[in-house]
Amino acid sequence: MNKAKYTQEVPEDRKEVLKVIQETKKPLKIMIVGGVDSGKTTLTVFLANELLSQGFRVAIVDSDIGQKGILPPALISLGFPESIFTSMEEIRPVKHYFVGTITPNQFFGEMVTGVKLLVNEAIKRKADVVMIDTTGLVHGSGVELKRMKIEIVKPDLILALQRKDELEDILKPFENKTKVIRLVISENAKPHTREERRKIRREKWKKYFENSSEHLLDLRKFYISGTLIFQGREISEEEKNILENLFRWLVFHGRKITSRYFVVKADIGTFPRNFDKNTMKAIDLENLSNLLVGFIDKEGFCLGLGILKLINFKELKAHVLTPLTEAEVNNAVEIRFGRIRVREDGEELGLLNRDAL
Ligand SMILES: Nc1ncnc2c1ncn2[C@@H]1O[C@H](COP(=O)(O)OP(=O)(O)OP(=O)(O)O)[C@@H](O)[C@H]1O
Ligand SMILES: [Mg+2]
Repeated sequence: MNKAKYTQEVPEDRKEVLKVIQETKKPLKIMIVGGVDSGKTTLTVFLANELLSQGFRVAIVDSDIGQKGILPPALISLGFPESIFTSMEEIRPVKHYFVGTITPNQFFGEMVTGVKLLVNEAIKRKADVVMIDTTGLVHGSGVELKRMKIEIVKPDLILALQRKDELEDILKPFENKTKVIRLVISENAKPHTREERRKIRREKWKKYFENSSEHLLDLRKFYISGTLIFQGREISEEEKNILENLFRWLVFHGRKITSRYFVVKADIGTFPRNFDKNTMKAIDLENLSNLLVGFIDKEGFCLGLGILKLINFKELKAHVLTPLTEAEVNNAVEIRFGRIRVREDGEELGLLNRDAL
């Protein structure tokens, strides 16, 4: 199921945009901004198809991690549509950058890095026009995220789909530096509820993990990132015993990172356990089950996603479900931990805070 489809029933001002694009020097970077359901992806699909049929080499950087067209969610992806397409899902991705969750809120660094690296990659691969589809986060911290993206990517053109003046906080600082075209929102643009968005995502996750198999990974062969889990030094048996007795925990794994402990545990019984959060961080083992992880190659790009099923800390082995082949998994040098728990049938089990792991 896809929200945005190719349609030529678009407001008149889109034709003006096409003219501007045709007449501007290539390569040309275009950033599309707008609130939720303002028609960003529909506009991207429309422009990409029109430009494609005029013979331009078009690249799409899909950074709308929560409502992506190019599969899968939780990554920023680059693709080059080769022929007229109906929806972004048909585009075969050529590179991904791992974010690991479906909302950009606590992940500005990943968002900005990923977009920049993939735009570079698009230019390297000789795109005439690079179109960057973005998330609908345009208020509050979203203003800062968009500012950083614009500052680093330096788009030649910003297309702003706005209701009233809702994007002006984003656009104002760039007024005299970047060409901005303000566009009306199509009267056909249709709002979607949170539940509908979740349902659309469910189908996307499911499709992505459809032909997955479980791999048993030797964690010693990978650099583990996106988490404190293997930072610092392993705690001693003695430290582990003290923590278990003091807090009535089963401690599966513990590290000491400078002067702070980081512990993966399960509670034995429920009662209040008080400790100084600056001295120790403790997470439930349960948080690691069905956690989304990324397979990262030596260039820092993401080869694909996996779902962490089980970690055996004693043997440093992990069971990970992934559609990647054995050879693709072997191309990864790093496993990066995400912050969403999701099942292969597409059911999202919950988001974790950035500092949870
Ligand atoms: N010109 C149009 N003609 C017909 N339907 C449209 C048009 N523009 C938008 N829509 C519809 O409105 C809805 C939202 O559009 P779209 O998915 O493109 O918005 P978006 O800004 O990309 O949303 P999100 O914030 O989720 O990424 C979709 O169902 C889409 O089909
Ligand atoms: Mg969209």
